[in-house]
Parts: sequence; C-alpha cells; structure tokens
Amino acid sequence: MTLTPQQLQHFEREGWLMLPELFAEEEVAVLRAEAEAIYRESRPEIWREKSGAPRTAFAAHLYNEAFGILGAHPRMIRPVEQVMGEKLYMYQYKVNAKAKFDGDVWQWHQDYGTWARDDGMPEPRAMNIAVFLDEVLPINGPLLLIPRSHRHGVLAAGHDKATTSYPLWTLDHATVERLAHEGGIVAATGKPGTMLMFHGNLVHGSAGNITPYPRKIVYLTLNAVSNFIRKPTRAEWIAHRDFRPIEPVADDALLAYARRRKAAA
Ligand code: SIN
Ligand code: MN
Repeated sequence: MTLTPQQLQHFEREGWLMLPELFAEEEVAVLRAEAEAIYRESRPEIWREKSGAPRTAFAAHLYNEAFGILGAHPRMIRPVEQVMGEKLYMYQYKVNAKAKFDGDVWQWHQDYGTWARDDGMPEPRAMNIAVFLDEVLPINGPLLLIPRSHRHGVLAAGHDKATTSYPLWTLDHATVERLAHEGGIVAATGKPGTMLMFHGNLVHGSAGNITPYPRKIVYLTLNAVSNFIRKPTRAEWIAHRDFRPIEPVADDALLAYARRRKAAA
C-alpha cells in the first residue's frame, strides 16, 4: 500500500489524511469486541472518566493479540514509513472509548507539545494514526481538526489537570480562534475501518458524547526510530521505551486472527 503524490501533498499541506474503510468490517469487528472486553478489565493501563466510564486503554498491543497485530499492520505501517522515510517504532498506543452518554471532552491541543515536554522527543517526526472501530458520526464526538495548524510549530500551552481525568497541555481560546479563522475546522467522520493520519503539531480536540452511540477509536503514534524519546517522565506503558523497528505482519494477519476466533467460538 503506497500513498499517491496527491495524498502526500494533501498531508503536507493540510496536516491530515483520511483513508476511508482501509480495514474491512470482519477485521474491525474483532477489534471492537476485544476493546469492549478490555474495558471490563481492571488494570493500571485503563483510565476511566470521572463518571467511571472507560476513557482509554493504554498499551493494548502488549496484552491483546488482535491489537498487537493491528500495531504492526502493513496497511498502516507502510504509508507512515513512506512519509517519514525510515523505520518506525511504537511510541504510544491507546484505545479511546468516548463511551455512549459519558464520553468526555478532549480539549484543544497539539500532541507533539506533550511528547516534547513530557518525554523529550527531539522532533515532530512521529505520526498519529486513528483507526475507527465504530462509525464516527458528526454527533458522537468526532475528532475535530484545524487544517494547516501544524505549520505553526509548537504553540504555548497550559497544563490542564482539572477538566477531565486525563492531564493535557491545552491551548487557549484566542489561539484556537486565530487558527480556526485561517484553517477552519474539520470533523473526521467515517465508517468503521477508516484510518486517519495526522501531524503531531496539528491542533485537535473532541466534544463529549451525549448520544447512545459509542465512538471507539484506536490512536497510535509511530515514531521514526532515529527520533526516539530522550527524557521520558511518564510510565513505560504510556511512552514506550522499546525502540526496535516494527516489522510488519502479513496483510491478511488480522483477518486470519478474526477467522480463528470465529472458528474457536
Ligand atoms: C487524543 O487527542 O489523543 C484523543 C482525542 C479523542 O479521542 O477524541
Ligand atoms: Mn491528541
């Protein structure tokens, strides 16, 4: 799977690129079921909203086989290698729930600001990937992106530890207003299996989910191997220290896993 020159240009200019339904329903259905099972577990990697609803499950690729396969999937790894021009390692892996009725807000932020401040990542040469497990609708808290905001570098941010259960370096309203005036705001919606790539400096956030429709998205961050983090302050399962390059699995590995699970049920 190779990105076209038009797709590469879109990513460079806008800071994001959507690949609709990159994964088939049979592949996504198994991940969706495994995510629900993970959220029922009690382990330190699973963070909850203030309401108790699941917010995110960190490092699921290390304790769940299906998410492990996704983390090395060539349909995701190859395009990012193409953009970065080198091999990648897994810097962070989250399965965000945005639970029905209780999914809380993600305030406006840039990710690279956190990676640099908290983990000593030298350059914004890590790619954010979102793989939609549920249909992401305009109404169930889609990721909101400010196109072209990645061109502004790292913006001043404040450390908000109060708004949600998740501490985040967030941008002030005046900055968001200025950037949205230039670039507008795009809601990243799509069917399950859709993949979105977005730049580490792209400003993004999402509203709460008051609908009865959950919005599970796998977010993973693939860092260029030479850009490994120099000064991590966070837990190993938040900012991984295994800098070995990812060797992609076979293209049908997730499908084969889904079929094995079905046969065993
Ligand atoms: C994130 O920015 O890391 C997550 C945002 C979301 O799940 O909506
Ligand atoms: Mn983010």
